[in-house]
Amino acid sequence: MSDTEAPGPRHVAIIMDGNGRWAQMRGRPRLWGHHAGARRVREIVEACPALGVRYLTIFAFSTENWKRTQAEVAGLMSLFRRYIQREAQELFQAGVRVRFIGDRIKLEPRLVALMDELELLTAGNDALHLTVALNYGGRDEVTRAARRLAYEIEQGRLSHRDVDAETLARFLDTHVLPDPDLVIRTSGEARISNFLLWQSAYAEYEFVDTLWPDFTAAEFARIVGAFGRRERRFGAVRA
Ligand code: IPE
Ligand code: IPE
Ligand code: MG
Repeated sequence: MSDTEAPGPRHVAIIMDGNGRWAQMRGRPRLWGHHAGARRVREIVEACPALGVRYLTIFAFSTENWKRTQAEVAGLMSLFRRYIQREAQELFQAGVRVRFIGDRIKLEPRLVALMDELELLTAGNDALHLTVALNYGGRDEVTRAARRLAYEIEQGRLSHRDVDAETLARFLDTHVLPDPDLVIRTSGEARISNFLLWQSAYAEYEFVDTLWPDFTAAEFARIVGAFGRRERRFGAVRA
């Protein structure tokens, strides 16, 4: 590809927001919205390869989402378990490599077991790299990375002189992923809610009003298509 050709986003990250409002607008419990939202994921995953998107990262549960009612949290955890069980074969067959980011310590063991299993099952796939952020928070991730880096120094395996952005990034959950080119948030909120703080330093953002359960592959394709018209400067001045 030449320098002048505008490439599409290689890595798209999505803050899937608005499930609760979608359900409430219909007079239904919030969990009903989460189920509807989960059903949307497949369509977006399937749309990626044809759009040239090689990495898709989705925000499923934040480190702050534990503040919700016990019923909602439990319902979400059970939804994640069922989702993994239901979709595992499909994802595997489609050539999707699945990874999870976030702190697994607080998650229930039977969910973590399913996450590990799915990662292992799809480890040889390469058609699309799907990363699910579950109990993920950007500050938490950077803090955990700093803690592990400090430990390496304490053990004498690294020197404080080795600490630069590249070294720190090697300790992040996302260490094998490229930075996101485009971050999409649904539901009309224009904030990032602790998502990929470090990695999105130069991402382009797209905030859409659509509630996540209404987000279609067509809207996704439109946003991805429009990305090529953005001018990314990364702090430099255009030649
Ligand atoms: C996003 O939808 C899903 C999660 C945070 C788990 P919300 O549950 O935040 O829906 P709203 O924002 O309340 O409508
Ligand atoms: C962000 O949405 C987290 C996920 C989509 C999983 P929230 O609904 O939790 O964010 P806030 O509370 O509106 O900032
Ligand atoms: Mg929300």
